[in-house]
Amino acid sequence: MSGSVPEAPAAAPLIHLTDLDKWYGEDGHENHVLRGLSLEVARGEMVAITGASGSGKSTLLNIIGGLDQRYRGQVEVAGRRVVGLTDRELSRFRNRTIGFIFQQFHLLPHLAVVDNVCLPSWFRPDEKKSRADLRAAATRVLDRVGIAHKAASRPNHLSGGERQRVAIARALFNHPEILLCDEPTGALDSQTTQTVFDLIVDLNKKDGLTVLVVTHERDIARRCPRRVHIVDGHVHSDERDPPGDESLGVAAAGEAGS
Ligand SMILES: Nc1ncnc2c1ncn2[C@@H]1O[C@H](COP(=O)(O)OP(=O)(O)O)[C@@H](O)[C@H]1O
Ligand SMILES: [Mg+2]
Repeated sequence: MSGSVPEAPAAAPLIHLTDLDKWYGEDGHENHVLRGLSLEVARGEMVAITGASGSGKSTLLNIIGGLDQRYRGQVEVAGRRVVGLTDRELSRFRNRTIGFIFQQFHLLPHLAVVDNVCLPSWFRPDEKKSRADLRAAATRVLDRVGIAHKAASRPNHLSGGERQRVAIARALFNHPEILLCDEPTGALDSQTTQTVFDLIVDLNKKDGLTVLVVTHERDIARRCPRRVHIVDGHVHSDERDPPGDESLGVAAAGEAGS
């Protein structure tokens, strides 16, 4: 034995995109949306993704989340290459690694809130839990996001902010490592925007989730300690608050008021 302690290798990024290219169109070469985009996100980061409408932000989240496998380049998420997985591996990856939140909540109107939240588990044939156990687990997650008292309600009877909390609970149900939020406050008024975003910040800070937030709202972007701006299909700027400066970012966003 040499006696020297080997240095621990630097932690691999949780999300690692290299030279990502994505086209849409009939012949596959009509609309070149992502053009050699590279990005690394470490575990525990909270990153705003900004860019003009149509710049490929949703496309990017869909690729990271395994919803879209038609691209060129390398995508590694949570230590695995997302491309080429079987359907079963892919749904396992999406279930356990990724939680998605969308602008338009996408709740099922005919199901009670609690059943909307445990819906993802219906697609996990490997876990045989009773409906009562699933509902109990869903209620715990609803409690975490402050909306357990609406567990028996239908989504149509909830406000926009409450619906988004339910959608967040659904995204959290399988304890994902990464939360992908596509304009999560885009359908909410400004006050509800703040409370829902407070929750998302809390999930990053207290629960340690890695969060990517696509947003066009400046105040929301400023509250993220890192901000990635996409232009012409690649990362145009990548700003970080200095370490330990998070509270400053929050305060600045609060003061901006524009
Ligand atoms: N399923 C699709 N089929 C064809 N074109 C698409 C599809 N999804 C998005 N696009 C096009 O790709 C570009 C980027 O879209 P998107 O990723 O939704 O942008 P953003 O979320 O930044 O507004 C746009 O020009 C859009 O019209
Ligand atoms: Mg979009």
